[in-house]
Amino acid sequence: MKPFVSLAAAVVFGIATLSAQAADPIVIKFSHVVAPDTPKGKAAEKFKELAEAKTNGAVKVEVYPNSTLYKDKEEMEALQMGAVHMLAPSLAKFGPLGVKEFEAFDLPYIFRGYEDLHKITKGEVGAGLLAKLEPKGVKGLAYWDNGFKVMSANKPLKMPEDYKGLKMRIQSSKVIEAQMRALSAIPQVMPFSETYQALQTGVVDGTENPPSNLYTQKMHEVQKHVSLTNHGYLGYAVIANKGFWDKLAPEVRTGLEEALKESTDFANQIAKEENDKALEAVKASGKSEIYTPTEDETKALQKALAPVHAEMSERIGKELIESIYAATGFDPSK
Ligand code: LMR
Repeated sequence: MKPFVSLAAAVVFGIATLSAQAADPIVIKFSHVVAPDTPKGKAAEKFKELAEAKTNGAVKVEVYPNSTLYKDKEEMEALQMGAVHMLAPSLAKFGPLGVKEFEAFDLPYIFRGYEDLHKITKGEVGAGLLAKLEPKGVKGLAYWDNGFKVMSANKPLKMPEDYKGLKMRIQSSKVIEAQMRALSAIPQVMPFSETYQALQTGVVDGTENPPSNLYTQKMHEVQKHVSLTNHGYLGYAVIANKGFWDKLAPEVRTGLEEALKESTDFANQIAKEENDKALEAVKASGKSEIYTPTEDETKALQKALAPVHAEMSERIGKELIESIYAATGFDPSK
């Protein structure tokens, strides 16, 4: 080839490569562990739709639900390594990352309902917690609601004594571990994706989760009794790999931030309704007996679980726990 021709070819080829690069969307891999038909699953899909529209196609979001890409612990590691870009792990799963403070959300009966919860997730305390993720290479972006947990097993769960000796599957939180021990149950940390099978085969006897997770994983088919204890909260922090997030062009990041804001509002609007619907579906299935504890039974459970706050205060930070009580105006010990 003559030098002139090869130079021209190189220029043409170079331009073609550049324009192809400009047209290639930035791929965001968003991995999660629950079914698509849950508050988090639906919010992740909403985020995808909004993010792609608001960045005019500069971003493509690939959502991987149901642990298809990674299980609980692996997804955190994958995020830090940049193998995935976004996650929305439950607030109970930040201990292994070294940010134990998130376990405050797991304290039994710390919130009387969503209104108390939102004083934290939409306020200063919540923002302060997200900021603690930065030194870990993780950007905390938003909180997405799920709901209040029910207990399940193959025997009726009414009084604290009923939990004695039961092997209960839990998330990795030390607060939830202490909660189960306070009931003389035997906590077993296990990935969410393995829970159904563990319940089915009797590796564990029971578990806790909001109804939307119980129903969409079909746990109610292998748990004869569900008790509507609402003893604790389960929700999410939406997070990104910080290096990836910081390197995005400002206009792309703005589009993503808008998409996040809207998908957060969406998540928080649908969460309660999705859980109510799931509970109705569990009832309609007739596979589990649903029990609503009496006032006395609730009081007995609250009394048995109250010491967990003091027991965990060193791990989580007394000041943080007190700032939550102050923000919600509710101290469960009083
Ligand atoms: C669990 O492991 O039980 C939950 O954290 C699953 C989820 O993401 O809602």
